[in-house]
Amino acid sequence: MSGLLAGKRLLVTGVITDASIAFSVAKLAQENGAQVVLTGYGRLSLVERIARRLPEPAPVIELDVTSPEHLAGLADKVREHVDGLDGVVHSIGFAPQSCLGGGFLDAPWEDVATALQVSTYSYKSLAMAALPLMSAGGAVVGLTFDATKAWPVYDWMGVAKAGLESASRYLALHLGKQGIRSNLVAAGPLRTIAAKSIPGFDQFEDAWTARAPLGWSLTDQEPAARACLALLSDWFPATTGEIVHVDGGYHAIGA
Ligand SMILES: NC(=O)c1ccc[n+]([C@@H]2O[C@H](COP(=O)([O-])OP(=O)(O)OC[C@H]3O[C@@H](n4cnc5c(N)ncnc54)[C@H](O)[C@@H]3O)[C@@H](O)[C@H]2O)c1
Repeated sequence: MSGLLAGKRLLVTGVITDASIAFSVAKLAQENGAQVVLTGYGRLSLVERIARRLPEPAPVIELDVTSPEHLAGLADKVREHVDGLDGVVHSIGFAPQSCLGGGFLDAPWEDVATALQVSTYSYKSLAMAALPLMSAGGAVVGLTFDATKAWPVYDWMGVAKAGLESASRYLALHLGKQGIRSNLVAAGPLRTIAAKSIPGFDQFEDAWTARAPLGWSLTDQEPAARACLALLSDWFPATTGEIVHVDGGYHAIGA
């Protein structure tokens, strides 16, 4: 098998539709020589149906990142399909409606806690659950939305992403001794289920479409997926704790 990820074994979380960023990652990874195992949350039969649209059928393991049982059993379940992991993709985010769309000042702690558990803490939980299968040269990659700024409708999800960006740096710190890297891709707005759940998301869409120096497609997940592949590959061997922007250059301009 040839390709950027030839021979690599990947665990990819976060597929729910074929618009999911994770779906594009899984598809491109397979096209580039990787063996892919998926995890699915909730509607498993839907995830299995979407998995059949990949170039190679991929097994789907149930994983709710808030479930200690699922996390504890993950390595054994993955071992039924591959004998180790070279890469793990965290493509998971969720916040209750109260936390989004301008609700920052009123969202109750229980809802904020859910957002942080699913979107931030889970990055560490997933990496630790997969760690028994990983060795030097392995990589963990996650997806963020530039958390250096306060966005109009992103609210507590923005705080969760700021935490994710920090958690990735700490994971880089703590797993570096084992030769395992942790990096994030900061994607621009893409029309996925997660994005559509944010009231006022169209503000991001309009801003990016009008101002990103390279232009921006709201329906093309491939640029973000390509960056994930690059970070999972052997071509960033000395890069960890990094955030690569795949946003048409929007983050670099003052607008
Ligand atoms: N779409 C965008 O504009 C955009 C931009 C930047 C970053 N991101 C990030 O990309 C990642 C993937 O999102 P997406 O846009 O592809 O949307 P998506 O809706 O396709 O994927 C989100 C995934 O999170 C999963 N999930 C939610 N709760 C979970 C739980 N408890 N356990 C396990 N999985 C759970 C869902 O099942 C779903 O597969 C998220 O971290 C998101 O914040 C998205």
